[in-house]
Amino acid sequence: MYNEKMLESMRKVAANREANAELEPRRMTADEKDALLAEFHPDYKQNEFAILSIGENKGEKVPTELCELLQAHSRISAADVDLTKVDYETDVLIIGGGGAGASAAIEADEAGAKAMIVTKLRIGDANTMMAEGGIQAADKPNDSPAIHYLDAFGGGHFAAKPELLYKLVNEAPEAIQWLNNLGVEFDKTEDGTMVTTHGGGTSRKRMHAAKDYSGAEIMRTLRDEVLNRGIPVIDFTAAVELILDENGNCAGAVLMNMETKELLVAKAKTVILATGGAGRLHYQGFPTSNHYGATADGLVLGYRVGAKLLYADTLQYHPTGAAYPEQIFGALVTEKVRSIGAKLVNADGEVFMHPLETRDVSAASIIRECNARGKGIETSDGVGVWLDTPMIELKNGEGTIEKRIPAMLRMFGKYGIDIRKEPILVYPTLHYQNGGLDINADCMTKVENLYAAGEVVGGIHGRNRLMGNSLLDIIVFGRDAGRAAAEKAKDVTVGALTLDHMAAFDAERAAAGLETEAISPKLLPTYTHGNPKFEAK
Ligand code: FUM
Repeated sequence: MYNEKMLESMRKVAANREANAELEPRRMTADEKDALLAEFHPDYKQNEFAILSIGENKGEKVPTELCELLQAHSRISAADVDLTKVDYETDVLIIGGGGAGASAAIEADEAGAKAMIVTKLRIGDANTMMAEGGIQAADKPNDSPAIHYLDAFGGGHFAAKPELLYKLVNEAPEAIQWLNNLGVEFDKTEDGTMVTTHGGGTSRKRMHAAKDYSGAEIMRTLRDEVLNRGIPVIDFTAAVELILDENGNCAGAVLMNMETKELLVAKAKTVILATGGAGRLHYQGFPTSNHYGATADGLVLGYRVGAKLLYADTLQYHPTGAAYPEQIFGALVTEKVRSIGAKLVNADGEVFMHPLETRDVSAASIIRECNARGKGIETSDGVGVWLDTPMIELKNGEGTIEKRIPAMLRMFGKYGIDIRKEPILVYPTLHYQNGGLDINADCMTKVENLYAAGEVVGGIHGRNRLMGNSLLDIIVFGRDAGRAAAEKAKDVTVGALTLDHMAAFDAERAAAGLETEAISPKLLPTYTHGNPKFEAK
C-alpha cells in the first residue's frame, strides 16, 4: 500500500528512531514563531479573507466562506411564519445538543428553570463527541489556575478576554469534579488520583483524559444526565432564525423540521446559542476533524440579530490530521500521541521541531517542512510528515499505546497500519474556530437575553487555543450560561414577538449594494461534485 518512496522514507525514520527518541529539540523563540506564523499559517493568507460590508463587524475581515454566509439571505421569509401560533414555550431555549448545550440545560434545570434543547441532528452529534485528548484543569499541587492562565494567555497571543479566561481557569477544577461526580470515567491510578499529561504549550501536566476518547465519554455522561432529568430535546430540528420581541430582546427562534421543512415557533425568556464550530466550511480547502454539523450556524443567527463577533478571522488547524490513508483523511490524530512521546519527523527521518509547541506554531512548522523545505512525504492525496508513534513504546514500554491511545490504534489498524510498529502520516486539518460571538462575563451577547456558550463563542482563548481548553470551555461556559440564563429568565416578560430584524438586515444588504444568491444558516455541508474531502460550498 505504501509506494517505494514512502517505504524508503520509513526506513530512514526507523533507522533514526532511537537517536530521535533521545533528542530534546529546542523551543522556538518568540521572534522565530512570529516569522513562521506570518509566512506559513493559513490565518495570514490575506487573499483567503473578505471584508464584511454589513452588520456589527462591518469593515472587518473574516474567512471568505464565512463572509458569504454572514451576509446571505435567510432560509425563510418572515411572511411564512405565524408568530401568534407558538409551538413551544420555555424559560430557557438552548440551540445545540453538544457538550455546551447539554451542560447549559443541566444547570438551567438545576436552577429551577424550564429548559429545552433543540438540535438539527441528535443530542451528542457534535464536536464534543469527537474530542480525543482531554480536558485541562489545574488541580495538582504543583499547578494553579494562575499558571494555567499564563499558559493559555501566552498561547493565545495575549488576546484572550481576561475576564473570560479568568473564569475558564478558575472554574476548571470544579468542572472536573462535576464531571467526575456525574460519572465520567477519567483515567486514574490505582489510588484514584487522576492521570494528567502535558499538551502543547502547557507548563504543567494538567490534561485529564478518558484514554483518547475523552469527548465521547464526557458527552455520553452529559447526554444521560439531560435525559435522566427529563429535559425536553427536540431532535432533527434546526433553528433557522432568532426571534426578538418588540423591545429588541431575544425571545425565541424559528425552528425548521429537518425532514419535513415545517416551520415552528419556539418562544423563550432567554436563548442560549451552543451551535459549535465551522470545520465543515472547509476554509481554504482544508479537510476537517469536525463533526458533520459544524457549519457556523450560530454565528449567522447571532450576527443577523445584531450580536458582535470577536476574532472571527482566526481558525485553528490541528497540526496532526491523518494524511494517509485517504479513508480517514483529515481525521484527528490526538495531540496526546505527542504528549506521550511521539515526535514529528520529516521525509529524511529528521526531527524538525519540538513536538509540543502550541498548535498554530506546530501546524505552521509542518506546512513549512512540506511546502517550503520540500521535506514532506508525498501521497496520492497530498503531502504529510511522519508522526513516529513506535517511539512511544520505545520510551514507555510495550502496551502503552493500547492502554493510552486505543482509539488511534484502532483507527489506523482498520487500514492495516499498526501504529506500534510503523509511523503515521499527518498534515494540518481544520479543527476549531478560535473566534466567534463576543460575550460578557455572564455569557450574554450584545443582544439582551441572547447567551452563547461553547465553540460558537470567541475571545476565551484569544487567537489560538491550547489543547484541552475547549472541552473545558464547553463545560465551564455551558454551565455558567445555563445558570445565568435561568436566573435572568425569572425577571423577563416577553413582549410581542417580531422578525423585523430580517427586513432591517435585507435593507442593510441592499444599501451596501451587496448581491448574493447565498442562503444561511447552512445547516449541513453539501458534498456533491469532485473530491468530497474538500468541497462543501
Ligand atoms: O488533539 C486533541 O486531542 C485535541 C484536543 C483539543 O482540541 O482540545
